[in-house]
Amino acid sequence: MDEKLAELTIEIKQCEACHLKDNRTQVVPGIYGPKNSLCIIGEAPGFNEDKEGFPFVGRSGKLLDKMLESINFSRQQISILNVVKCRPTDENMGNRTPNESELKFCGERWLYKQLNSLTPKLIVTLGGISLKFFFPSAKVTKSAGKVLTLDEGYPIFATFHPAYILRNYNKIEEYSAHFQEISKLYDQFNGERIIGKTSRSEQKSLTDFM
Ligand code: URA
Repeated sequence: MDEKLAELTIEIKQCEACHLKDNRTQVVPGIYGPKNSLCIIGEAPGFNEDKEGFPFVGRSGKLLDKMLESINFSRQQISILNVVKCRPTDENMGNRTPNESELKFCGERWLYKQLNSLTPKLIVTLGGISLKFFFPSAKVTKSAGKVLTLDEGYPIFATFHPAYILRNYNKIEEYSAHFQEISKLYDQFNGERIIGKTSRSEQKSLTDFM
């Protein structure tokens, strides 16, 4: 990993800048693939991610892995980040959607820096929350399946959150079509892709040193 990104990741892991530090087990900085590749962005870690320290390790993550596999991507070849790095909890210690100020604070503090190090060929936002971080007036129902471009020049493909698909399984074909489009766009942007599967244990060893 790039030295700057490694240093940034250490800083992220030590962050105590907001109240989300109080109820977290650990910070979940994300996992990194090569530079100039694909970057998937979710909203925030949930219960499982907070425990394991990796993004998308629960049921949503399993569906995400399946969708990625369908277009010949494994976790080692891409980056998976969240806008918010610590698990937001409700009064019963359940998962909670991050609010606007948490998104803005954490996203501006860390996510942009990660993206500027990773310089992704294509960013994919999962669900309305991460989309809204980049485009506050955008609605996922309108933007899903489309490419929007950030001022910094990064193309962003908006799609649904896998948790939404798990609740609305009649959308699975549309979701699959979105991933086919992601694959096509990625090739159009000359992104490199190494075909092959990697197991979660390999993924861990890759990120262990962070
Ligand atoms: N949902 C997200 O948005 N991110 C995760 O890491 C897990 C679930």
